[in-house]
Amino acid sequence: MDVKGDMIKIEIDGWRKAKGFGRVIQEEFGQNISTAILTREVSQSADVTVGEKKEDELTGLPWEEVAVDLWMKQESMVTDFTPIWSAAGEAYVTNCSTCHTQPDVAHFSANGWVGMLDGMIAFVNFDTDTEALVLKYLQKHSSDYAEGHH
Ligand code: HEC
Repeated sequence: MDVKGDMIKIEIDGWRKAKGFGRVIQEEFGQNISTAILTREVSQSADVTVGEKKEDELTGLPWEEVAVDLWMKQESMVTDFTPIWSAAGEAYVTNCSTCHTQPDVAHFSANGWVGMLDGMIAFVNFDTDTEALVLKYLQKHSSDYAEGHH
């Protein structure tokens, strides 16, 4: 692993829409689960390798597989993601069952949750980081990922 001072080189593997959304790296082909959103500076200096290209039949949009090499501060890395995940789950449980019963997370798809959460976001007091985290939590526990819900 490349390390320079307090910086570490990482590679982000994922997919992106080939047109217009080049700075948003999604986890999987056709799924709007963002892994990283590169700032303009980073996207200009990062080393991007483009792989396979595929069209998403549902939207007709071309997607491409990418590997992005970039440098980040070592201190921003975490070794254990569990506390972050449980904070997201807790935010969901405490904020999203005050008006109706807790929706079954696996009742909706990863892409479906984007609009669902968007429609509810005015009802809760999430900052943008919490919103992004809760969205990812919902997506990773959605029907696309939950066992027995395919
Ligand atoms: C202030 C009250 C309120 C809060 C808080 C709230 N909701 Fe809702 N929610 C509603 C109402 C009212 C509806 C039904 C009307 C609608 O669909 O717009 C609804 C509908 C939904 C539905 C649609 C159910 C379906 O089967 O179509 C989902 C999913 C949902 N909420 C998720 C959430 C999530 C996730 C949160 C937390 C971020 C949340 N809600 C917080 C009031 C609330």
